[in-house]
Amino acid sequence: MSIVNNETTIEILITAEQIAKRIETLGDEIVADAPSDLIIVVILKGSFVFAADLVRELERKGASAQVDFLSLSSYDVGKVSCGSVTVTHDLSEDVTGRAVLIVDDILESGRTLDFARKTMFQRKAASVKTCLLLDKPTQRKVDIEADYVGFTIDPQFVVGYGLDFAKRYRGLPYIGILGPN
Ligand code: IMP
Ligand code: MG
Repeated sequence: MSIVNNETTIEILITAEQIAKRIETLGDEIVADAPSDLIIVVILKGSFVFAADLVRELERKGASAQVDFLSLSSYDVGKVSCGSVTVTHDLSEDVTGRAVLIVDDILESGRTLDFARKTMFQRKAASVKTCLLLDKPTQRKVDIEADYVGFTIDPQFVVGYGLDFAKRYRGLPYIGILGPN
């Protein structure tokens, strides 16, 4: 199905209902392994919508976690990664000795997740697990896999549910592919 948003056609790849259902089962998977003192590290900006739904699902399932935010940047304002990852806004909590769950929007080259994971270990986190809403496994440049993945998708550029193109479309309730116009 396609939707027209500000004169751009967007083809729906994953509906809001499909996302909600998958978050319920992801919540089961995470809760089955989660220690009681979990700290969720939300990678901004792309995963803020996913993280908001996921933390509420975890809370509903009895897993009460702390939440903190780490802003990382690897993309310019287009569709191409510039390669190196930088911290644009750091955590406010100390993760030393903590069980960390990194939550991010999408795993593509793997550079962002690899950087985030290594940063948590450098700061002496006791354990680090990773939960990604989307995975494009064919696009990997770094050898890394996530512990929990919402959906595996083809190597196409997607927007919505937190994901942007040129800083737009983050508020769409579904995940879609931008049309040519
Ligand atoms: P990686 O470092 O190449 O794995 O890329 C991860 C980051 O790139 C994600 O956290 C997103 O911010 C961004 N990204 C990768 N693919 C897409 C996409 O299809 N749409 C929007 N952002 C994307
Ligand atoms: Mg991101």
